[in-house]
Amino acid sequence: MKHFRSISEAGPDALRRLLDIADHMAEVNRRPNPKVPALRGKTVCNVFFEDSTRTRLSFETAAKRLSADTMNFAVSSSSVNKGESLRDTIETIAAMGIDAFVIRHKSSGAPWQISQWTTASVINAGDGWHAHPTQALLDAYTIRTALNRTDSFDGLRIAIVGDIKHSRVARSDIQAFTMLGADVTLVAPKTLLPPSLDGFDPVTVTTDLDAIIGDLDVLYLLRMQRERMNEALVPSLREYTSRFGLTPERAARLPEHALIMHPGPMNRGVEMAVDPSELPGSVITQQVTNGIAVRMAVLFDLLGSGANLEAES
Ligand code: CP
Repeated sequence: MKHFRSISEAGPDALRRLLDIADHMAEVNRRPNPKVPALRGKTVCNVFFEDSTRTRLSFETAAKRLSADTMNFAVSSSSVNKGESLRDTIETIAAMGIDAFVIRHKSSGAPWQISQWTTASVINAGDGWHAHPTQALLDAYTIRTALNRTDSFDGLRIAIVGDIKHSRVARSDIQAFTMLGADVTLVAPKTLLPPSLDGFDPVTVTTDLDAIIGDLDVLYLLRMQRERMNEALVPSLREYTSRFGLTPERAARLPEHALIMHPGPMNRGVEMAVDPSELPGSVITQQVTNGIAVRMAVLFDLLGSGANLEAES
């Protein structure tokens, strides 16, 4: 694989391979010195045109644990503010000798455009509403480890709840979860669904979370993306919470084994109306931890041909 830009482009074999490599990376991360020389001599540049905490820091940590050099491009202090174009920015950084770009951009398709301007690998760290494939990878990895589902997700019932319309996480998660065999249900008011589900993998859609919550294996809550909404799509946040939020009453109705997931950042009191740290099924912290292992897996798969994962001697 040269690039990692979407789950559908990578396909099922690559998805399974990356999940298997993530197991090895998780083992590296449990070592007293969680660092291997696998990517020594490689340079990874994080180019984030949108805010991020988890994705940017975990890519930087992942690259460092594999001994790659890292560069961080901060838009706010860059020559973009003097009018430099995206293409000139990418070609300028590439001229410094880069092996991989990790790109977050508000425009859907930006990672594909950027791949035309550089010979480096391009990893999509979130493009507009379109895709967030490493989030889907860490979500699939979290389900696989927490529910001991190494072979497939066949028969798993996963509900993705909330602002599907604006969510690149939902689009990538649907692709990854269905590729692995899960049954995915989207739960949202009609105003927070895309106008058409043409082009989506097969999913069920409902507006009634309470009708399905007692049968779920995974409840995946999405963030209400108020910064991407330019119109009032729900009557009030209070009403949204009452119909679609995780309240104490709904948490009590989840099966005992069910996982509670959220990509972060959370709107506490909106989609998350309980303290998830008090729910035994919550794996939200594990999602963050697993983000490092899966991003190590992606960097290793793209850049680390022939390298091994032995510790430095
Ligand atoms: N889940 C996620 O992409 O979080 P950040 O925006 O903090 O990277």
